[in-house]
Amino acid sequence: MGNPINKYYDLERSAEAARNGTHRNLVGGFWDELGLLQFDFAKNRGLSPDHYVLDIGCGCLRGGVHFVHYLTPGHYYGIDLSQDLLDVGYDVELSRLKLQTKLPRKNLACDAEFDAGQFGVTFDIVIAVSLFTHLPFEHVRLCLTKLANVVRQGGIIYATIFHCPHDHDWLQPLEHSPGSMISHSSRDPYHYRTEDVSRLVAGLPWRVDFIGDWHHPRDQSMIMFTRTGS
Ligand SMILES: C[S@@+](CC[C@H](N)C(=O)[O-])C[C@H]1O[C@@H](n2cnc3c(N)ncnc32)[C@H](O)[C@@H]1O
Repeated sequence: MGNPINKYYDLERSAEAARNGTHRNLVGGFWDELGLLQFDFAKNRGLSPDHYVLDIGCGCLRGGVHFVHYLTPGHYYGIDLSQDLLDVGYDVELSRLKLQTKLPRKNLACDAEFDAGQFGVTFDIVIAVSLFTHLPFEHVRLCLTKLANVVRQGGIIYATIFHCPHDHDWLQPLEHSPGSMISHSSRDPYHYRTEDVSRLVAGLPWRVDFIGDWHHPRDQSMIMFTRTGS
């Protein structure tokens, strides 16, 4: 039986992909397209080179390579469950683009419980692409709770989910178009209703804006969480 949360908790699977060079496929493929999509999205919405950016569930830096290239040296930070994905991102993907000098290795941390406080940085923008799609409710809630402590007032999280519309029975598998991915209520990949997202932030200092379609090739919807003052 696979891991009850998501397939990435099988760390040997990620290690094997890093060893045999299939890490790009492991994080979902569409390497150039999805890397640029997330970077361009953030840039078009006001990302600037002096911002401090946290990429949570950064994997092997599919988006990260673009952010590192653009940001002031040292302003990109990443967290992932797999040290092997972080290593192949740093040693292969960043190295290939001669970008390692722009990123201290200590800016990449292996952690499964979203502990961004370890960096001692206040972030302007957090990117969470294809992370909440793999996490059950209580893990997303834990992530949003911890991020509230490290994002400045007015700072933003851009996160993707599989959206379950009202005309679909939440209990039933949901096929998405484009991409033909099938999401579920209680196993990976997970889908969420709009009101589930409101419940995720209940009592937390986040305002939620549902952006929806952002041209993701597998129909992931974009949600914007803005850090409020209280
Ligand atoms: C589909 S990949 C996306 C990676 C990256 N955001 C990108 O766009 O290429 C999902 C990533 O989430 C990571 N992940 C899954 N559960 C996690 C957790 N609890 N904490 C941190 N990372 C996690 C996986 O290891 C994997 O790298």
